[in-house]
Amino acid sequence: MVPNVAQTSPSSTVPIADRLKAFAHTFDRHFDRFLQSAQEVPPRLLEAVRYAALGPGKRLRPYLAVRSAALVGGEACWNQAAAVECVHAFSLIHDDLPAMDNDDLRRGRPACHKQYDEPTAILAGDALLALAFELCVQGDFDQDRTGLLVAELARGTGWSGMIGGQMADIQAGHSAPSANQVESIHLRKTARLFETACRLGALAGGGSLVQTERLGLFGRGFGLVFQLVDDLLDLQSSPHELGKNVKKDAAAGKQTYPACVGLDESKRIAHDLARQAIEAAAFFGEEAADLRDIVTQAIEQVS
Ligand code: IPE
Ligand code: IPE
Ligand code: MG
Ligand code: MG
Ligand code: MG
Repeated sequence: MVPNVAQTSPSSTVPIADRLKAFAHTFDRHFDRFLQSAQEVPPRLLEAVRYAALGPGKRLRPYLAVRSAALVGGEACWNQAAAVECVHAFSLIHDDLPAMDNDDLRRGRPACHKQYDEPTAILAGDALLALAFELCVQGDFDQDRTGLLVAELARGTGWSGMIGGQMADIQAGHSAPSANQVESIHLRKTARLFETACRLGALAGGGSLVQTERLGLFGRGFGLVFQLVDDLLDLQSSPHELGKNVKKDAAAGKQTYPACVGLDESKRIAHDLARQAIEAAAFFGEEAADLRDIVTQAIEQVS
């Protein structure tokens, strides 16, 4: 039995990279068990969903959900963590489609539509979105809390959340660079889902309004750092390191901080955002040391 890393004290001396790896391993066992319970699913659809969802990702959003539940004194919320990962996997499948970013490499392997075909990839994404809501409500929750969980996931995912952000990202291509527009896109296409991961964890763990708000604030802040770092890595890293193609944003005319304000200013903004996220986590004291470490780890990749 793998120890429940997300529930152990974060002030332990285990480096954050090792904690995340161990967590991903435990999470994947839960996630895999759920995906195996599928019934009456066309085999090709099941295979494509499993290929995309269980591919070698970092599982950051589930980590935040489970840690948020722990920080408010709740138990590990594997179902809500899996729900957010389903939305994330759906977003990646569709993001890579030729009609969107047209990427053929994801997590070091062919993108879902390359491994299968476009119709299968579109439907696998759709299936994951529906699965997310099936998972989100699983647990010992009263009707009120169930409603809060569903509303939270819907808002983080939908037209004013990740999906709305993806629309804005596509529409902004080749328009005049604007840092305000970049911030608004990053907030919706990426940060809202990190925020949702934290808030779902807090809600599932029985957290108070204040605790849920604080964790959401942290998630949003970290999400902004994360997308800015992702844009910098697109310029500075390699397919070998990232498992996805690089130098694509500028070619596609994407609105990114580097395109708007240059590299140095982008890094300054990243540090500023990181400081704000770390401040939000400080509300939970040393128990949230791992949240601070996650932000630091992200920013160190581009420092
Ligand atoms: C990639 O997210 C998409 C962005 C928001 C930049 P991750 O880097 O978390 O993807 P995986 O899950 O680890 O592959
Ligand atoms: C993706 O942003 C955000 C999503 C909601 C999927 P990117 O398009 O920059 O993500 P990558 O670089 O393809 O992972
Ligand atoms: Mg994209
Ligand atoms: Mg992309
Ligand atoms: Mg990117």
